Amino acid sequence: MRNIKDEFNLGEKKILLRLDLNVPLNNGKITDTTRIDKIIPTINFLLKNKAKIIILSHVGRPKGKIINELSLKPICQNLKKQLNENVRLITKNLKKINPDDFFNNQNEKIVMLENLRFYEEEEKNNKEFAKHLASLADIYVNDAFSCSHRAHASIFEITKFIPTYAGLQLNLEIDALTKITSEIQKPITCIIGGSKISSKINIIKNLITKFDNIIIVGGMANNILKYKGYEIGKSLQEDNCDQIIEEIFLLSKKENCKIIYPEDVTIGKNLNGSPEIRELNNVSKDELILDIGPKTIKIINQLIEESNTILWNGPAGYFENPNFSKGSTEIAKKIVEKNKNNTIYSVAGGGDTVSLLNNLGATNNFNFVSTAGGAFLEYLEGKELPGIKALN
Ligand code: 3PG
Ligand code: MG
Repeated sequence: MRNIKDEFNLGEKKILLRLDLNVPLNNGKITDTTRIDKIIPTINFLLKNKAKIIILSHVGRPKGKIINELSLKPICQNLKKQLNENVRLITKNLKKINPDDFFNNQNEKIVMLENLRFYEEEEKNNKEFAKHLASLADIYVNDAFSCSHRAHASIFEITKFIPTYAGLQLNLEIDALTKITSEIQKPITCIIGGSKISSKINIIKNLITKFDNIIIVGGMANNILKYKGYEIGKSLQEDNCDQIIEEIFLLSKKENCKIIYPEDVTIGKNLNGSPEIRELNNVSKDELILDIGPKTIKIINQLIEESNTILWNGPAGYFENPNFSKGSTEIAKKIVEKNKNNTIYSVAGGGDTVSLLNNLGATNNFNFVSTAGGAFLEYLEGKELPGIKALN
């Protein structure tokens, strides 16, 4: 993979920089700027090398239509502020722009093209669209790891028409994930949560062969409790997952990987309810399991204590209600404590987990926090990501 760090000759070159500025927006306001914050070093690196930058990004899923609420305008403004540099948003039809449309003024250094997904060609990986974008610059840089699982025009097809490089943040993402999946300091533990076990079965299976402990929490642990014969009341659950669970237990036995699931739980009568701690055999039909219980927290913390490496994806409970965020918070606190003592290598990823860590102010106490959701998970599944393949 060619890396911009190794390219000493960026000076005066025009660079198409694919970023993932797909940040959460609420009424035109950015509610979490993590993805913007993380790519500031890349832009500063390119500016220092006197490059001219054309930023490519999408936000949301406009599906080939111009939707004003999904304009990159607020993102462009945030970037301007953070960089203390002018960034001009190009709102003209992207299919009709040409290289003369920017950098005529010597002082112009950065422009941003409006949401690529306003054009259906983007998601269709359209060749003409990709070729046209490529014609706007000299070099293409992918610094959007979190989009690299998408074979879209600005991620995949474009690399066929222009010299291609990996950006700084993309490299950091891959280094951290490689470290955790291949150069592992054992014991290594994975905490995996979230709601759907069926969506994470392939990841769990792939990790079982490499990890010592897999801790299953969150909504998806309910399926295991049900499989084990416990009443789970009105808790979140999936149909037909007994076979998935059987496969997990069989493989873990074969590979000598310990599977840990809740030994006690915290329930509520509804999502806004107040928390009550319950033994597993004491949940009634009208209750919802919304977090792990104190016994389980203790077991997990002991395993974290004994681990040298930890990977975390997915919260332990319904953390959006503080009444049910104790499990996730205690796990985060324990990892932060080990991190401060330099006795653990810790990686976390996925939208919910990142927002949880941001809320706790714990993000900087992890060795690496991935801004990616889908791409992070597909990488852990052992899949080849189209965007990464295209860089090689
Ligand atoms: C993401 O947030 O997952 C990336 O920006 C890709 O967006 P998508 O999931 O809508 O393809
Ligand atoms: Mg996604």
